[in-house]
Amino acid sequence: MALLQAQNISHSYDYTLFENISLELNPKESVAIIGVSGSGKSTLLHILSTLLKPQKGRVYLFGKDIYSLPKKELLKIRRYLVGIIFQAHYLFKGFTAYENLLVSAYLGEQDIDNELIEKFNIAHVIHKKASELSGGEQQRVSVARVLTKRPKIIFADEPTGNLDDKTAKEVMDTVFEYVKGGERALFLVTHDRNLAKRCDRVFELRGGTLVEL
Ligand SMILES: Nc1ncnc2c1ncn2[C@@H]1O[C@H](COP(=O)(O)OP(=O)(O)OP(=O)(O)O)[C@@H](O)[C@H]1O
Ligand SMILES: [Mg+2]
Repeated sequence: MALLQAQNISHSYDYTLFENISLELNPKESVAIIGVSGSGKSTLLHILSTLLKPQKGRVYLFGKDIYSLPKKELLKIRRYLVGIIFQAHYLFKGFTAYENLLVSAYLGEQDIDNELIEKFNIAHVIHKKASELSGGEQQRVSVARVLTKRPKIIFADEPTGNLDDKTAKEVMDTVFEYVKGGERALFLVTHDRNLAKRCDRVFELRGGTLVEL
């Protein structure tokens, strides 16, 4: 069964962002979306990841038509099954890096994975406040925080925007490894074409539709 099925999604703000977009995401599959700034990539990610109801069309996650579900059911899917890495990451600033992971572990009813802390090279800053971390450290903690929940689908919006090439590669290696390690999938928005190419399929959001590259 597809983990995600989007059918005929349309959405506009001042102008039409996209029309009739359909997409499927199967277990162990990764899809990248590229496109110029303002083309609607983040909006599409929000729609597919439970955060924004599209003006037209349906989104099925794990076979459920999410925007027809009672709110409680939708929240459950968001809490236990979906992991969202935002373009601007929202760490709890007054909390330490470790406490940020703890919140996620608690919400997802999981344990903290110390291996993840090692892999993301954040062990040395794990007890510092999020507000005292560098941009790249914050980004690594925020990706680690999402993986701590052990979601079935990861939605990532420019997850490596603040990272140097080497660190970006290491972080994404871990994300890809996670996705291949179970019945999981990745929906990735990026400006980095080389990163996009590491995904199984690449689409460009152009002229209001998804063009497969
Ligand atoms: N809540 C909103 N209300 C009104 N307009 C919005 C809203 N969210 C986004 N937009 C507009 O929709 C367009 C697409 O925004 P979106 O954030 O999806 O683009 P993007 O492709 O992710 O761009 P970037 O690469 O810069 O992140 C933009 O013109 C933006 O101003
Ligand atoms: Mg965006």
